[in-house]
Amino acid sequence: MSAVDRDAVTDTVIETRGLTKRFRGGQLAVDSLDLGVPAGSVFGFLGPNGSGKTTTIRMLMGLIAPTSGTATLLGHPVPRAARSVLPQVGALIEGPALYGFLSGRDNLIRYDSADPAADPHTRRARVAAALDRVGLTAAGGKKAKAYSLGMKQRLGLASALLQPRRLLVLDEPTNGLDPQGMREIRSLVRELAADGTTVFLSSHLLDEIEQVCTHAAVMARGRLVVQGPVAELAAGARGRLVVTTPDPARAARVLKEHGVTDLAVAQERVTGELPPGEIEPADLNAALVRADVRVRSFGVERASLEDAFVALTGEGFDVTG
Ligand SMILES: Nc1ncnc2c1ncn2[C@@H]1O[C@H](COP(=O)(O)OP(=O)(O)OP(=O)(O)O)[C@@H](O)[C@H]1O
Ligand SMILES: [Mg+2]
Repeated sequence: MSAVDRDAVTDTVIETRGLTKRFRGGQLAVDSLDLGVPAGSVFGFLGPNGSGKTTTIRMLMGLIAPTSGTATLLGHPVPRAARSVLPQVGALIEGPALYGFLSGRDNLIRYDSADPAADPHTRRARVAAALDRVGLTAAGGKKAKAYSLGMKQRLGLASALLQPRRLLVLDEPTNGLDPQGMREIRSLVRELAADGTTVFLSSHLLDEIEQVCTHAAVMARGRLVVQGPVAELAAGARGRLVVTTPDPARAARVLKEHGVTDLAVAQERVTGELPPGEIEPADLNAALVRADVRVRSFGVERASLEDAFVALTGEGFDVTG
C-alpha cells in the first residue's frame, strides 16, 4: 500500500459510520455515531460530562478499537491507516503525557525527537515557535511538574503544533484555563483555522462552541443528537417572545388567546413561547395594538445553542446520563 497522499482532496476530514464503543462491563459509551466534519471547519463536539466525547476521540486517534462501525480521517480508514495518516493530525487528548522532571521546553524537544519526519537541525526553532504560540516562552525552562493545569494544557497544545497539520483534534483544550487563557486558546484556534487547518474540538461549554465554532455536533448519553452549522442549530430553536408594556396583564391575555404558551409577567415585561406553526410575530404585535395594549418594545430573543440543546434533548445541559 502506498503512503498517504498529503494532498489528497477530502471534503470531509472526519467521517464515522455507526461508530460504537461498548466497554468491558457493558457500558455503551458511544452508540452508532455518524459524524461528518467538513474540511475547513472549526467543529465543536459538544456534550455534558460522560456523553462519549473522549471515547470517540480515542477511537478516531486509534488509541482504542471500536466495538463496531467505521471511521475515516482525511479520507483514510482508522485504525487501519492510522500510522500513515496520524502524522498529518495534531492531537491533544485529556491529560497530555508529560515528563514532570523535564522542563516544558525539553518535553517538546523529546516529543519532536520521537517524530521520524522532524528535522533535528530545526528542532530548537520549531520548539521555540510552538512555545511562543501557546504563550509559554517565559515558563519554557520550568519543570513540567511545577506547571499549573492550564500550563500543562498549553504545553500539550504546543506539542500538537510542532508540525503544520491538516487537522487538529483537541479534547477540551480550554480545560483548566482561566478566562484570559480561554480567550487566548480561542483566538489561537481561529488563527489556525484561518491558516486552513480543520479544528475538531470537544467541549462541555456551550458559549465556547458558539464563540469559536462554525459547525457543531451535540452528544447526549453516547448518541448524536444533532449536527450542522452552528447558525442553523441555533435557528432550529425558536427564540422567546419578549414584550415590554405598561399593560402587562392585558398583553398576557391577548398573547394567550393567540396561542402563546409558558407566559411569564415580570413588571412591564411579558415573555412567552411562540406557538409552533404559522403565526408571525408581526401578527401578534398587531393583535396587541388592536386590543389597545401600549407596546413599548416587541421582539423575539435570539435563540442560543443552549435553547437548541434544551429543545432537542428536553433536558438542561448539565444533566448527566
Ligand atoms: N475505560 C473505560 N472503561 C469503562 N467505561 C468507560 C471507560 N472510559 C469511559 N467510560 C465511560 O464511557 C462514558 C463516556 O465517557 P467519556 O470519557 O467518553 O465522556 P466525555 O464526554 O469525554 O466526558 P467528560 O466531559 O467528562 O470528559 C462514561 O459513562 C464513562 O464512564
Ligand atoms: Mg472527556
